[in-house]
Amino acid sequence: MSKQHLSPVWARAFDIDVERGEGIYLFDKQGTRYMDFTSGIGVTNTGHAHPRIVRAIQEQAARLIHGQIGTVTAEKVLELTDELLTICPPPLDTFFFSNSGAEAVEAAVKLAKQATGRTNVITFEGSFHGRTHLAMAMTQSKTSYRLKYQPLPSGIFVAPYAHCYHCPIAKRAMTDAQRAALSGSCPNDGGKCCGYAPEQVRWLLKTQTAPAETAAIIVEPVLGEGGYVVPPASFLQELRAICDEHGVLLIFDEVQTGFGRTGKFFALEHFGVVPDILVMAKGLASGMPLSGIAARRELMEKWTPGSHGGTYGPNVVSAAAAVETIRVMKEECIPENAAARGKQLLAGLRALQKDFPSLGDVRGLGCMVATEFVDAQGNPDKALTKQVVQRCAERNLLLLTCGAYENVIRWIPPLVVTEAQINEALHIFAAALDEVA
Ligand SMILES: Cc1ncc(COP(=O)(O)O)c(C=O)c1O
Repeated sequence: MSKQHLSPVWARAFDIDVERGEGIYLFDKQGTRYMDFTSGIGVTNTGHAHPRIVRAIQEQAARLIHGQIGTVTAEKVLELTDELLTICPPPLDTFFFSNSGAEAVEAAVKLAKQATGRTNVITFEGSFHGRTHLAMAMTQSKTSYRLKYQPLPSGIFVAPYAHCYHCPIAKRAMTDAQRAALSGSCPNDGGKCCGYAPEQVRWLLKTQTAPAETAAIIVEPVLGEGGYVVPPASFLQELRAICDEHGVLLIFDEVQTGFGRTGKFFALEHFGVVPDILVMAKGLASGMPLSGIAARRELMEKWTPGSHGGTYGPNVVSAAAAVETIRVMKEECIPENAAARGKQLLAGLRALQKDFPSLGDVRGLGCMVATEFVDAQGNPDKALTKQVVQRCAERNLLLLTCGAYENVIRWIPPLVVTEAQINEALHIFAAALDEVA
């Protein structure tokens, strides 16, 4: 067996040949145990190989693997819509399924275009929506995703995200202490945007994409790949108001923030905002490929039958995994655990900030936490970030980076992580910082 025949297009963060997973751990062939604080990029929220989900997959595979939805209706898919109805906010009561996050994003935009008869979409700086051509055109988190793929689909317009730590207005007007208090503040604590970011959306609608041409605004309620940024609640509330004013549809991309990641089933629950279309994937089926969008029935009915779909979505085994994932999450109070462990993690990291000034910002919601590294001048410190990740990996703690400058470490453990495991990870991180910072 050789990696020689795997495409080099997959950049790999670690040279680990993984053999199995259990809970928050991955094991290699030699039996070395790694704390997987990457969750396969925010997917294994119920932990690796949760016994109940494994059983549901096995049982479904023995009954029916593929029940093509354009041909027949598999009972498991109906069971899945019933389960989703219990966690999605009303009036989002009708579902479309596909396989990956990017496919679901494409579906959301195609629905928005047909339903409104409009062509354009507004996205945000730092956003990540996937790597198919349209999703890539809507992705602004790094040029490396676009380099040599141009031209990309047109009709995409970009506004700034409400990133308080880097906001030009907030930076000018506030003291460091005020900015720190606002940055990453929990929206429920009354975080308020200075108004710059929503104002820029209004400006786009005046100067570049007229409301009559704008089908949707798509936003990650907590920015993921772009740097794990928790916006003030008023930013998302303003976007809702702008959409209502102009008949534009609001799409929340909860591919990464969904399924307990931020301490609620969906991040939208923190902000008091319901979108017109909700996009989900990643944690939905605990690692089986499945994604979906939810919208109100009346909107879905504007989507021309047969004008969108695919051979596989929803795979029935994936649907079985998703049904059991939702049940396990409810019965084991997994979102609640994510909220508690996230608070513990944030507190531990903020305590380290006092000793390590290179930890420029610590922010997050639930178990979606970021540490942003800066040099003595306050500039992004990619080299230090890379060293810290390496030193943690040498101690068997796996962490990924994000952000355009690759100077942010993202903390996304499986949501079954325990208090002791968070303490162990903090201990490893502190030792790594001690060595290099
Ligand atoms: C917010 C968000 N949207 C969409 C995607 C794309 O999902 P996929 O990689 O499954 O296509 C991702 C992936 O990281 C994501 O974080």
